[in-house]
Amino acid sequence: MPAFRPGLEGVPATQSAICDIDGRNGVLTYRGYPVEQLANHSSFLETTYLLIWGELPTGEQLRRFEYEVQMHRRVSFRIRDMMKCFPADGHPMDALQSSAASLGLFYSRRALDDPQYIEEAVVRLIAKIPTMVAAFQLIRKGQDPIQPRDDLSYSANFLYMITERVPDPMAARIFDACLILHAEHSLNASTFSARVTASTLTDPYAVVASAVGTLAGPLHGGANEDVLTMLDQIGSEDRVEAYLERAVAEKQKIMGFGHREYRVKDPRAVILQELAEELFDRFGHDHMYDVARRLEKAAESRLGAKGIYPNVDFYSGLVYRKLGIPRDLFTPIFAIARVAGWLAHWKEQLGANRIYRPTQIYTGASGKTWLPIDTRSSGAGA
Ligand code: ACO
Repeated sequence: MPAFRPGLEGVPATQSAICDIDGRNGVLTYRGYPVEQLANHSSFLETTYLLIWGELPTGEQLRRFEYEVQMHRRVSFRIRDMMKCFPADGHPMDALQSSAASLGLFYSRRALDDPQYIEEAVVRLIAKIPTMVAAFQLIRKGQDPIQPRDDLSYSANFLYMITERVPDPMAARIFDACLILHAEHSLNASTFSARVTASTLTDPYAVVASAVGTLAGPLHGGANEDVLTMLDQIGSEDRVEAYLERAVAEKQKIMGFGHREYRVKDPRAVILQELAEELFDRFGHDHMYDVARRLEKAAESRLGAKGIYPNVDFYSGLVYRKLGIPRDLFTPIFAIARVAGWLAHWKEQLGANRIYRPTQIYTGASGKTWLPIDTRSSGAGA
């Protein structure tokens, strides 16, 4: 019996050619390309193509993919009507998980060995997930969702659908770079969940719905909301050190810090910080950024020895807030981006599938005998 490793830390659970993380040196690559190059020069849809099909597209391949995604952005009125029955104060991640799963009812054909089916499912999910996030955003405010606009890029259209304003081109470009940075990250919890679900040969909508549910937790994608809550609680730069000391003394986690894979600052946090600065230069400063920078500095001397540094979530919330995005949409936006990675892993899993079925070390009771109910004392067996 191999040694038990809680959280499967350090245990390889698959082979994958999609993404590589060098956690000691802070290097992240998608299909061999450094994420910095992709964030600076690529687009989210081009990066999605790269992740899923393994190579950067030619101009013609990219135009076709963009066109297909644009053609599939709309969602059925039945899904919109279903969302109108969701509680308006429900979390948008729960709304997204339900609506993503509902796609399986509308596109029930399952032909996992048909490349055309795979392509159609990829296009549908990449196209419709942002529309569903935006639809719930307006529905919960008592409004009708607005239709996607064909003259806007993927990212500009999403910002338009949630803010009801055509975004500044620079804001749309920065948002697109954020999607690239969140698109893939090897075998994190939600991607592992996606691969386990995929390995049962269920449909891709169930794969994405299970991954969305996993991403929602505060130790994973949900941390980006908690970072802003924490910064607001700290309130001002002069209160940073006291907050940190108390959190460390009480063994509380600092949200947006720490990562199973990195022992240095997450390379995505480095780029997100640059993007945040670009936005603040253009659209005005956010004094919470000063609080965040001071916390990073203070935490370096307090937690750096343990390899605890800012992760992707630390600066993303500040960027999204400046873009006018409500806090509880931060994690759904993470999901919009990560669908690309989940689908790349879905496709890879199908290419060499074996159902996931790990073993366990049993620690429960044995040798008990069933007793009639009127002879039992509380919780007792013979
Ligand atoms: N603040 C303070 N201390 C921390 C932090 C943190 N954010 N993260 C880890 N540590 C400490 C732990 O207290 C522990 O210390 P100890 O050995 O003295 O007990 C040590 O570092 C190891 O921590 P673990 O929780 O065992 O590390 P693990 O690899 O299991 O956890 C995780 C990684 C879940 C991301 C953790 O760092 C954490 O909870 N961070 C805060 C939440 C967060 O930002 N999540 C987003 C992660 S990125 C993403 O999912 C997109």
